[in-house]
Amino acid sequence: DTPDSHVPRDPRLIRLTGVHPFNVEPPLTALFKEGFLTSPELFYVRNHGPVPRVRDEDIPSWELSIEGLVENPIVLNFQQILQEFDQITAPITLVCAGNRRKEQNQVRKSKGFSWGAAGVSTALFTGPMMRDIIKRAKPMRTAKYICMEGADKLPNGYYGTSVKLNWVMDPNRGIMLAHKMNGEDLRPDHGRPLRAVVPGQIGGRSVKWLTKLIVTDKPSDNWYHIYDNRVLPTMVSPEQSAIESKWWYDDRYAIYDLNVNSAVVYPQHDGELMPATAGPTYTARGYAYAGGGRRINRVEISLDKGKSWRLANIEYPEDKYRDFESDLFGGKVDMYWRETCFCWCFWNLDIPVTDLTESDAILVRAMDEALSIQPRDMYWSVLGMMNNPWFRVAIVKDG
Ligand code: MTE
Repeated sequence: DTPDSHVPRDPRLIRLTGVHPFNVEPPLTALFKEGFLTSPELFYVRNHGPVPRVRDEDIPSWELSIEGLVENPIVLNFQQILQEFDQITAPITLVCAGNRRKEQNQVRKSKGFSWGAAGVSTALFTGPMMRDIIKRAKPMRTAKYICMEGADKLPNGYYGTSVKLNWVMDPNRGIMLAHKMNGEDLRPDHGRPLRAVVPGQIGGRSVKWLTKLIVTDKPSDNWYHIYDNRVLPTMVSPEQSAIESKWWYDDRYAIYDLNVNSAVVYPQHDGELMPATAGPTYTARGYAYAGGGRRINRVEISLDKGKSWRLANIEYPEDKYRDFESDLFGGKVDMYWRETCFCWCFWNLDIPVTDLTESDAILVRAMDEALSIQPRDMYWSVLGMMNNPWFRVAIVKDG
């Protein structure tokens, strides 16, 4: 029996930590088979502690308080959040900053648990823009940050973090609150009844079970904001990282926008590649994503350790959700958002089987529209975050 025994969960999810708290990723191929949108039961989960127990009858009176450097501090209940603000629906990919950490841990153990490449999922999120809520509270001129706090009580207090007020006020950044995922009420593991969704940034900024927005002139002083979700300089050791209040916990090492990343889904690491039986070509497939609303502009595959590269085809399923007439789209979205990419995309490449049989591995790398490209070498850091070197899958030869 765990503190989460009230939470329904799908047995297909792969546990990455012990019994509690709940940290899971779906099998990579199962995630991929879902397609662009991930069903809530397979969506990855990253919980730092117990899931708050919220009964159905408590939801209408769930309160969100907006306080701090504001002229008009307010407390909104769940009903007001639904009824008094424009509701938008948009597809957004969330990615844990620890996605692909397993590869870092294989090089040198970091302090984090081993995510494979499925710490990423996409859903249609519905709710109000955070800026509409903040505007109602009238931030003061000295305001610079929005701190968020969740209801999960953890060893070091409530989970909390912050983002810049500028970002919240910029509709192009898409920062919203959500009470629905793929048209259904949020599930307990994903923040029921209300969470923040910060598109294009690491999942750690999207606070679940949201209870407070605090307007401040400094970044969050929450323990989890300071000691989690950072890429510390590579020379900081696990022992050093345990010492609090050191220079390496300066806010400059905090991570916000995701970095460019990609993975091969087919062929699988330990799966069979069918060169002998597949016919003249094998279609390699996978995903890619970037941060800050930037679009992936190329995905490249190498079969010769990075000496030469071939260009893969890319599909952007997100684009079909930009059609306001489409009934795929259940709500309104600000027009600025039309230009912005907040979702993963899919790549594929037909490879002649003879080329595969001559190779020992498939490498993939992506580039985004700021021309950031995945590096050849890993940047190891003690918290094992934002791992994004070229993704490699060994080719299994049959027969
Ligand atoms: N919010 C609260 N209140 N508590 C948490 O433990 N985990 C964060 C973020 N928000 C967390 C939270 C992290 S690190 C990630 S990656 C995302 O939630 C994961 O969201 P998901 O579980 O819905 O996929």
